[in-house]
Amino acid sequence: MCGIISYVGRKKAGPIIFAGLRRLEYRGYDSAGIVTVDKGKFHRVRSVGNIDALSKKLGKKELKGSYGIGHTRWATHGGVTLENAHPHYGEDGEVAVAHNGIIENYRELKEKYLKNHTFKSQTDTEVLAHLIEKFAKEMSLKKAVEKVLALVTGTYGLAVVSVKEPNKLIVARLGSPLAIGIGEKEYFVASDATPILPYTREIIYLDDQEYAEITLDGCQIYKLNQGKVAKESQTIDWSAEEAQKEGFEHFMLKEIHDQPKVIQDAFRGRLREKIGSSYMGGFNMTDKQAREIDRIVLLACGTASYACMVGEYVFERLAKIPTDFEVGSEFRYRNPILDEKTLVFSVSQSGETLDTLVSQREAKRKGANVRGLVNVVGSTIAREADGGTYIHAGPELSVASSKAFTNMVTVLIMYALYFGRLHDLSFEDGLKIIEEFKKLPQKMESILKEAPKIKKLAQKYSKYKNFLYLGRGINFPIALEGSHKLKELSYIHSEAYPAGEMKHGANALLASDFPVVAIATKNDLYDKMESNLQEVKARKSPILAIATKGDKKIQKTVSDVIYIPKTIEILEPILNVIPLQLFAYYVSVDLKRNIDQPRNLAKSVTVE
Ligand code: AGP
Ligand code: GLU
Repeated sequence: MCGIISYVGRKKAGPIIFAGLRRLEYRGYDSAGIVTVDKGKFHRVRSVGNIDALSKKLGKKELKGSYGIGHTRWATHGGVTLENAHPHYGEDGEVAVAHNGIIENYRELKEKYLKNHTFKSQTDTEVLAHLIEKFAKEMSLKKAVEKVLALVTGTYGLAVVSVKEPNKLIVARLGSPLAIGIGEKEYFVASDATPILPYTREIIYLDDQEYAEITLDGCQIYKLNQGKVAKESQTIDWSAEEAQKEGFEHFMLKEIHDQPKVIQDAFRGRLREKIGSSYMGGFNMTDKQAREIDRIVLLACGTASYACMVGEYVFERLAKIPTDFEVGSEFRYRNPILDEKTLVFSVSQSGETLDTLVSQREAKRKGANVRGLVNVVGSTIAREADGGTYIHAGPELSVASSKAFTNMVTVLIMYALYFGRLHDLSFEDGLKIIEEFKKLPQKMESILKEAPKIKKLAQKYSKYKNFLYLGRGINFPIALEGSHKLKELSYIHSEAYPAGEMKHGANALLASDFPVVAIATKNDLYDKMESNLQEVKARKSPILAIATKGDKKIQKTVSDVIYIPKTIEILEPILNVIPLQLFAYYVSVDLKRNIDQPRNLAKSVTVE
């Protein structure tokens, strides 16, 4: 998430780093900072808020020096405050560090190596800065970073400078991307190529576990525990906007493909194998208080509301707590019955959706416990809730949501697991969920590999004017979300129904020009779904089914199948939604729609 930009060369580093931060703004952030080094002294400026705030703070002051690092922060550890903004110094102010990602074992590292140190921030990153500085007193900066990386668990894009070793950058990557730009006796390092492209198109992308020592004379890359590696640079011919899209044609497609990666950011540090449960840092409730909760209300709009419908199902199933989901635009005008034993989750990508925000305020007024499940750090819903959890999907720029949805569902299921384990759910059942969770990223990757096939199917189906999406049980909300994606992106009329409800009305629509998209994965309701599809077939509607790998039988009933890997029923929504996102995307590409900015829609709906 968020961004890093570093420079070493012969020019003034300050303006280059500042311009780089502006180009990284699209990634989303809550605070920013720059440090440059001149004649053995750091010059640092940091601010909360956007780059304009940083610019104001900097004023006419010049950040002297020809090497340094800049950072846009997306807070994970510690609030959005000036003290927590990067770059962070070591205890003696000899080393400065900018970091993207999460150091999971920062408490242990602090305890073991830095007992007498005083810290100025609440971040995990500052622990890295102290530790690198401490080790660098007895060895080179490069060796010190190497030693620290060997001790760390978590993820990082890391940039380090020292006043003791002039004109040198040490950078490292695990999980958070880093690209190195090679100029004429100058080097740039950034989270993506965007801020580098105005200066050079020669780029080396670091892979996980690689780190580099960069000086005026060259750039040497190493792999953890393996030593030097030789890497060729690539010449990038993308525009800056294309670079942000990482080679994908649209943000929507990039974000769909981000899902296997960002779901791991949602899990990170939150799954507890030892007790078969999960724990979310910002929940702000003790187990004892959580056990008192006798009702859960999930508030959201649009795509987030379908994530909540999945949540409703899972909370009741795992935790056996009565759970209701409500769309914000309705909830705010009702007179909801809530009390101090009710837990309300406001679920939102942007954290700014007015209907959800106003509903959250109403819930607070009525004395309920309100927690936010939000993607954008520091957003209004996050700030006004009494606590909550970031879903860590990373910046989502396409108006139509994809990765935020899967991470919302993931975090809701982790909460349901936590509540389940406080009540009747056994350790074995809890552990089984965790084990299946961990297999999801790979299964998601395998679905994404089906994209060319889904594209072909989309081209076949894009001629229809109406669609009906069917699902049952936990997959009904996925039918709703699949239909929602198609509507938003392609402007084709589509509806979603619980498959068993068809006979009460919607069957009248079925005909050869009215295709059905059906979620028919192998779960407890599979046979029922199969019978429903027979009814559809009898009325001549073409059927495109999402089915479980190995289910050959379904081919007899439906016109086309997209196969996906098996998982346990409560996790099916996370996999089943992906082919539907790709289908909606490719139908809309075929119809030449404005994919990332569909007509009449906005990413953040701050009006009623
Ligand atoms: C998602 O594809 C839509 N653009 C929309 O339904 C969205 O989910 C809704 O407006 C809620 O937004 P939020 O998650 O930012 O609160
Ligand atoms: N974990 C670090 C923090 O909270 C870095 C967050 C980021 O990726 O910007 O400060």
